[in-house]
Amino acid sequence: MKQTWLLLATAAMLTACTEKHATTLKEAFQHDFYIGTAMNVPQIFEIDKAESDLVATHFSAIVAENCMKSEEIHPEKDRYFFDEADAFVAFGEKHGMFITGHTLVWHSQLAPWFPYDEAGNKVSREEMIARLKEHISTVVGRYKGRIKGWDVVNEAILDDGSLRMTPFLEIIGEEYLELAFRFAHEADPEAELYYNDYSMSSPAKRERVVQLVRDLKAKGLRIDGVGMQGHMGMDYPDVAEFEKSIEAYAAEGVKVMITEWDISALPTIRQGAEISDTVSYMQAMNPYAEGMPAEAEEAWNERVRTFMDLFLKHSDKISRVTAWGVTDRTSWLNNWPMPGRTNYPLLFDRENNLKPVMQEYLNRK
Ligand code: XIL
Repeated sequence: MKQTWLLLATAAMLTACTEKHATTLKEAFQHDFYIGTAMNVPQIFEIDKAESDLVATHFSAIVAENCMKSEEIHPEKDRYFFDEADAFVAFGEKHGMFITGHTLVWHSQLAPWFPYDEAGNKVSREEMIARLKEHISTVVGRYKGRIKGWDVVNEAILDDGSLRMTPFLEIIGEEYLELAFRFAHEADPEAELYYNDYSMSSPAKRERVVQLVRDLKAKGLRIDGVGMQGHMGMDYPDVAEFEKSIEAYAAEGVKVMITEWDISALPTIRQGAEISDTVSYMQAMNPYAEGMPAEAEEAWNERVRTFMDLFLKHSDKISRVTAWGVTDRTSWLNNWPMPGRTNYPLLFDRENNLKPVMQEYLNRK
């Protein structure tokens, strides 16, 4: 009899405790920042139902992983392909999410026709500006009032702080940066506009990004935020340098966003995230194909805690933390920079379970 009461009392206490806990990521972080994820096409169309359900349940913000990049959305000069982007926006609206568009100006996954004329020669400066304007006006204009923030320019600055040579820089010159922000603002005056890049804790890059924010503001242009991509590994970035960048960008009066967060659990091949920089498969670089040993998993958990705690410490500056994908199964890091690896970089495992280290944050709420 006594034992039964004890059991019942324990059960009641446990229920009381569980009731106090958050049950979803978006509930856990609701007073801190939007918690977002990138969405791939099977998730958008709810073909990968398990993952789309996780997105709907756990996340308060979404960004398109690929379907709004120029090669996808604007594959030919006079042809746009909006089916996937339309479905992406509809998904976000259905679930009341903050929707970010990614990305308007980027050297990678750039529609191949963009800088060339019909004879295969580079177009004139005037024509390149006209194409830039037409592309931005059409894409931003289509989702006016619905997409709340845009990664206007992606990865324009190298780690040493110099401007990356791209068809935009080559043909238009440095002015392409301000033109892109100007055209985006004209197409949707209410939308937030962001600069987004990787390796944002590199001191030289940090300085150049700060300069870019200042230049745009000095010209009276709108820039609302800086996106720190947050592609990380077990040995980079340095947390102190990362924190300095959060503080430096925030000091310019713009929002800071962790836009593409994932932590590779595998041996580091490449820091940063230049997507064309790949190597061929090597068995030695794929040590956890059959699963992660407990020790490696705990080291990864600790890395998550370090950065999650940093984001929470600066939640007054950070408006959004977005994971670059939902489960380990569909992360791009299984195939970049080396194809065919088994990586463990995201917040949900291959069986669609929230990882224990994230459960810790739910339990605290
Ligand atoms: C990646 C996608 O995740 C992959 O599916 C695609 O094959 C290549 O691009 N920086 C960015 C993202 O801004 O758009 C990239 O996404 C990763 C690096």
